[in-house]
Amino acid sequence: MDKIVVYGGRPLTGELEADGAKNSVLPIMAALILNDSGEDIVIENAPNIRDVRVMCKILMSLGVKVTDRGGGCLVFNTANITTSSIPLSLSKEMRSSVFIMGPLLARLGRVQVYGPGGCAIGSRPIDLHLRGLRALGARIEEAGEYISAASPVLKGGEIHLDLPSVGATENVMMAAVGAQGETIIKNAAREPEIVDLQTFLNFLGADIRGAGTSTIRIKGPSLLRGGSYRVIPDRIVAGTMLMAAGITGGNILLRNVIPRHLEAVIAKLREAGMEIEEGESWLRARGSRLKGLDKVKTQAYPGFPTDLQAPMMALLSLARGKSNIYEEIFDGRLKHVDELRKLGARITSKGNRAEITGVAKLLPGKVVKATDLRAGAALVLAALAIQGKTEILHPEHIDRGYDNLEEKLARLGAEVFRVRSF
Ligand code: UD1
Repeated sequence: MDKIVVYGGRPLTGELEADGAKNSVLPIMAALILNDSGEDIVIENAPNIRDVRVMCKILMSLGVKVTDRGGGCLVFNTANITTSSIPLSLSKEMRSSVFIMGPLLARLGRVQVYGPGGCAIGSRPIDLHLRGLRALGARIEEAGEYISAASPVLKGGEIHLDLPSVGATENVMMAAVGAQGETIIKNAAREPEIVDLQTFLNFLGADIRGAGTSTIRIKGPSLLRGGSYRVIPDRIVAGTMLMAAGITGGNILLRNVIPRHLEAVIAKLREAGMEIEEGESWLRARGSRLKGLDKVKTQAYPGFPTDLQAPMMALLSLARGKSNIYEEIFDGRLKHVDELRKLGARITSKGNRAEITGVAKLLPGKVVKATDLRAGAALVLAALAIQGKTEILHPEHIDRGYDNLEEKLARLGAEVFRVRSF
C-alpha cells in the first residue's frame, strides 16, 4: 500500500503556482462532447490529477481522441462519438461521470450510465440532475443503479432547482446548449467553475448568460466549433496552500490565483490571525499565532466552501481556544474528525457540527488514513505542523484532486515524500 510520509515542524516558505481547477476542467471535458464540428479542442492548464485521467478514459470509451501534449495541455477530437454508454467500472470510479449525461443526450439523443450511488462524504443523490434533464424532455428510466435516458429532441424549459447544486446546474446547462429554444435555470449554483463552463461554451459558440448569478439562460441549439481554452486556477488547491502556510507559521507567495474566488476563505483565515496580502493574481500568506473561530459554516458559493472544511479543521486544531465548524452541504463529511483525533486533536462531533479545542502540539509517530480527497489534504496539513514523523495511508484519494501535492510542498521546504509499494 502506498503512503505519504511527512517529517513536519518546518515553516513553509517560497513561491508556488496554483494548478488549473479540477471542478472546472471536469465539466468542461464533458462539455466537449457537444462539439460535433470535427475541429479539435485544446484545453490548457489541466491539472495532472487522477480525476482528469479518469475523465479522459471515459471520453476515450465514447470514441473521443485524446492527446496529452504535456504541461497541462490536452487535445480532444470529438468527431466520432457513437457510443452512448459508459461501463460500470468507469461510472463508479468518479462521481463526475454523471456530467456526460447532459452533453450525450444533446449530441446523440440517448445516454446510459450507472448512478454514482453514495460516497465517502455522504449520500449525494443525482435526483436534481435527472429532474432537470426530464424538464428538457428526456425520458429517463432507472433500474437500480442503471440509468437510461433518451430524447430524440430536447426542448428548452424553465427549471427551478430545489438546491443550488453545482453538478445539476452544469448538467442542465450542457444539455440546454443542444435543446430547441430557451432554457432558464432558477436557483442555479453560482460557483466560479460554473462561470468558467459558461465562458468555455460561449467561446465555442453557445449562447449562455447569467452564470455566477442564480438565474442562467441558455438559448439553443448552438453549433459549436473547436478552439483553445485555459481553465481557471483551482481555488481549493490555493486555499489548501494558504492553510499550509498558516499551520506551519510559514510565509508563501501563491501565483496564478484569483483572490476574489477565495474571499470567504481569506476572511476566515484573517479572522484566525493569518496575514494575507492580495494582488490581482497573487496572494501572500503569513502564519502567526492562530486563534479559534466561533463559527465556520460551509455554504454554497460565495460562502465558505465545503471542500476546505477538512483542511480548515486541521488548522483550527492548533488554534488557541475553541472553534465550531458546521458542515451544511454534505451529510457525511466529518470522517476526518477521527483521524485528526488520532493525531492528538481535541475534537468532538455531533451531527454536522464539530467542536474543536485547540492544542499547542499534535502528536508525532502516528499512522492515519485519508478517507476522501479533502480529508487526506487535512491530514497532510496537520502532519506538516507535527515535529516528527506522520504516515498517511491511501494517498490515492489525495491524487484525485491535487497535482503532485508532495512535490509542491517539498518545493516550499517541507520534508514530505511518497513511499510506493510494489
Ligand atoms: C461539486 C464539486 C465538489 C463540491 C460540491 C459542493 C465538482 C466536480 N465537484 O460537487 O467538489 O464539494 O460541488 O460545492 O464540481 N444534491 C441533491 N441532489 C442532486 C445533486 C445534489 O440532493 O441531484 C445535494 C448534495 O447531496 C449536496 C448538495 O446538493 O448535499 C450540493 O451538492 P452539489 O452542489 O451537487 O455537489 P456536486 O456537484 O456533486
